[in-house]
Amino acid sequence: MTSFPRPAAVVGAGHYVPEKILSNADLEKIVDTSDEWIRTRTGIRFRRIAAENESTCDMAIHAARAALASAGISPADVDAVVFATGTPDYFNIPSCACLLQHALGIPHAYGYDLAAACSGFVYALDAGATAIAAGRADTVLVVGAEKLSAFTDYTDRNTCVLFGDGAGAVVLRASETPGVLSTVLGIDGDKSSLISLPGGGSRNPPSQRVLDERLCYWRMQGRELFKVAVHTLTQGAQDALAKADLSLDDIDVIIPHQANARIIEAVCDRLGGEKAREKLFLDLDVYGNTSAASIAIALSDAVSQGRIVPGSKVLLTAFGGGLTWGAAVLVWGGRA
Ligand code: UT7
Repeated sequence: MTSFPRPAAVVGAGHYVPEKILSNADLEKIVDTSDEWIRTRTGIRFRRIAAENESTCDMAIHAARAALASAGISPADVDAVVFATGTPDYFNIPSCACLLQHALGIPHAYGYDLAAACSGFVYALDAGATAIAAGRADTVLVVGAEKLSAFTDYTDRNTCVLFGDGAGAVVLRASETPGVLSTVLGIDGDKSSLISLPGGGSRNPPSQRVLDERLCYWRMQGRELFKVAVHTLTQGAQDALAKADLSLDDIDVIIPHQANARIIEAVCDRLGGEKAREKLFLDLDVYGNTSAASIAIALSDAVSQGRIVPGSKVLLTAFGGGLTWGAAVLVWGGRA
């Protein structure tokens, strides 16, 4: 069963991570932390960090080219670009969607950036599938990309050990057979203070004060977020399964937002224990939390490792700042 009247098949995926590796041992030299603390509290060992002159869109170009190539689709066939990011190249103008369209040589498309923090990729997937269902587009390039390192305070051990950079993309195509089976989305602004980037917007425009008070970096109440994350990731997964009229038994691979191994462990306990754990795909240990790119990278990674093959049913579940959450069930339709 699908909740989309005109099916959107997921026909290709690609990802890109920058070359530079930041290890826990490297972080030990920067802040008061330890490899043991980071590994046991988060499950993260490494993250990738973009070069100084490498932007969010630069990374997305690689991921999008790989996704189009894996789908066997030319840029000329793309009708829409939905680009999820909280760290765009510029403050909205020009959008990353425009920069990507130009770089790929997509001749005729509409497109926009979408900000839903770590849930961004699921929101973008929903937007793409909805556009296809509505007949607005036949082929949609869906991207999640972040340069989180540009807004990370490397004097704050609460946040700097978590985040990494990278990009992932998928191609959606109008199809006879279902691809995206269901999506569920939600927001809760009541908890907006749990994670924020206070400076740089109209509330606190760029100024010397913003720099002096370090308002241009992420701030986070980790412990509170942890609890909300476990609840929303679990509820989202259950709601997306119910909407697709499926149970966990029908799912081949679960890809949660790669935030923290302990959060994911607690979600698995609630979803079905060992049965859920066996279906998990994780690359958090090597890439860290890449926000809107996290599920997109993991999806592509799982395809390239052969964990997802044509016909695999995949459950995605995400949560992020705002707060936002989103979950989806899809059938992988790309080439093996
Ligand atoms: O994508 C959404 C973004 N955010 C998240 O997903 C974050 C969700 N939250 C988490 O992942 C976890 O809460 C953290 C990994 C951020 C923190 O783990 P925790 O087990 O909740 O630790 P805590 O915040 O309760 O801190 C425990 C102790 C504190 O010391 P005291 O007050 O007990 O003396 C912290 O100061 O650990 C200390 N601490 C650290 N120690 C070494 C915090 N960060 C570090 C660190 N290294 N990097």
